[in-house]
Amino acid sequence: MSSHVFQGLDDPSKPSPSQPVVARMYDWYLGGTHSYEIDRKAAEATQRALPDIKPLVVENRSFLRRAVRYLAKNGYTQFIDIGSGLPTVGNTHEAVLRVNPGARILYVDIEASAVNEGNEFIRKTGWADQVGMIRASALEPENIFNDPETRRVIDFDKPVVILKIALVHFFRPQQ
Ligand SMILES: C[S@@+](CC[C@H](N)C(=O)[O-])C[C@H]1O[C@@H](n2cnc3c(N)ncnc32)[C@H](O)[C@@H]1O
Repeated sequence: MSSHVFQGLDDPSKPSPSQPVVARMYDWYLGGTHSYEIDRKAAEATQRALPDIKPLVVENRSFLRRAVRYLAKNGYTQFIDIGSGLPTVGNTHEAVLRVNPGARILYVDIEASAVNEGNEFIRKTGWADQVGMIRASALEPENIFNDPETRRVIDFDKPVVILKIALVHFFRPQQ
């Protein structure tokens, strides 16, 4: 993986999380229940440095929902959400499927443990036929587009919306 890519540090094979994970911190800011103590401590430390972070995150997620609702109402039925975080707390599929129950959504995140948890959530909530989640980097799009799960969920003969929301600030400039 390229050195300028933000890399998730958590090891999902370990029994309890070894590092805070942005996707789970984000879930906590949004009032979700998919974080661990290690994530909440890091989120609280961030909040001390950036007191407005919670309302900013909530407002950002509202923007995401407004944007995808608008697109869904205007006939778009397929979405690839890159740098999605966890598919919890009113993320893309909830907003889109309310407008178009037949739509198809693929989530992409670089954090392996978030992807494991996300897929579990999608399966448990009964959307796995038309919603998927893969681990890949936004900076390596060929890995996203060639992934078998992407090909299962998304039909590239039809229009596809690509979302990259609250993501690019994770990229470091290339040396
Ligand atoms: C701040 S969250 C944004 C969540 C959602 N898009 C939103 O706007 O509500 C950004 C997510 O991007 C992920 N991320 C960071 N670098 C990435 C990369 N190179 N490729 C894919 N995902 C990445 C993080 O793991 C995190 O879950």
